[in-house]
Amino acid sequence: MTLFDKFDTLAATRKALAECGLNSVNVVMEKVISPTEAIVNGRHTILAGTNNYLGLTFNPDCVEAACHALKTEGTGTTGSRAANGTYNAHIALERDLADFFDCRNVIVFSTGYVANLGMISTLAGKDDVIMIDADCHASIYDGCQLSGADIIRFRHNNPADLDKRLRRLGERASSALVIVEGMYSMLGDQAPLAEITEVKKRYGAYLLVDEAHSLGVLGANGRGLAEEEGVEKDVDFIVGTFSKSLGAIGGYCASNHPELDIIRFANRPYVFTASPSPSIIASTRTALATMRRHPELKAKLWENAHHLYDQLKTLGFELSPEPSPIIAIRLENKEEAVRKWCTLLENGVYVNLVLPPATPDGSALLRCSMSAGHTTEQVDAIIAAFSKSKQ
Ligand SMILES: Cc1ncc(COP(=O)(O)O)c(C=O)c1O
Repeated sequence: MTLFDKFDTLAATRKALAECGLNSVNVVMEKVISPTEAIVNGRHTILAGTNNYLGLTFNPDCVEAACHALKTEGTGTTGSRAANGTYNAHIALERDLADFFDCRNVIVFSTGYVANLGMISTLAGKDDVIMIDADCHASIYDGCQLSGADIIRFRHNNPADLDKRLRRLGERASSALVIVEGMYSMLGDQAPLAEITEVKKRYGAYLLVDEAHSLGVLGANGRGLAEEEGVEKDVDFIVGTFSKSLGAIGGYCASNHPELDIIRFANRPYVFTASPSPSIIASTRTALATMRRHPELKAKLWENAHHLYDQLKTLGFELSPEPSPIIAIRLENKEEAVRKWCTLLENGVYVNLVLPPATPDGSALLRCSMSAGHTTEQVDAIIAAFSKSKQ
């Protein structure tokens, strides 16, 4: 018995996955050409699994802002804001986000993962209860674990099940923290947020919505599902990331609760991690401003998403429930998914291979994420590669 025995199963799975000659769990982008293209295995490849929803990673203004910050403020902050001090730019980004969300307070975190870890583990403690949608992201589960609270899962996108479980809690329901995502990361389906807010209000509970995949994607102004459903005032905490639509790295929590400011200092994943570097803050601020100025990016993203979804459906693939910038193709089994994933890559298209236990219902998935940066020709090439993978 050694410390490493527990990794044997994982090692065997990885070995099996490498059998097709391509290492699906460790794809190397040998050269990144644009938000939607890279050289992979020496081949020009269309990227259709990046979460680069608005295609802003190469936006000249964002790149320029990052370069300027690098030159004037250096490569990193070398510590946390609590220990080393806050840069003006951190505060400026928090103000930009508060203005964007039209809310009182925002905390910026070093990653979206840390934002969930920090907010959930600080809001809820060992005497509290967290109600979590069963399909929530790993960062939400990890935040719950760190909190020490009682964790109760309710059925995915099922407000009636949430209602039942809150009722069972009795008096504790009024301090429960309910957590859902806006758009779910694996299947791209949306939470029934109007019904969920109705339930949480009836019990006086609190609601945290992770809008990681819906920022810039949903809502008239791109504020996410809460905006789209008209329920922003009923959401207590919106958490999200800079790593998808904004093309950088980092996370945030926005809230109208005045307590958010004091929560910042009790938040261990905020206090004990280095703060985002100046170049990241600069490109994120510019990406946010670009996103606000260019609603046509969201429109192009959805046009691409609908085009791919409709064509894959016509080809007879079993798809995730609704058209969305995240399109998941359900395959019969793991082997079939790996085979198709390899064929796609050989035909110059990269998508995400997602296998159990990482999938919501234990199925094997090929997950595509669309970008406003995809040209119609690129989307057609993705469709053609999927068509070939059927032969
Ligand atoms: C729903 C959700 N929340 C949080 C995160 C974490 O964000 P980040 O990768 O920016 O740390 C992700 C990442 O994929 C996610 O899908």
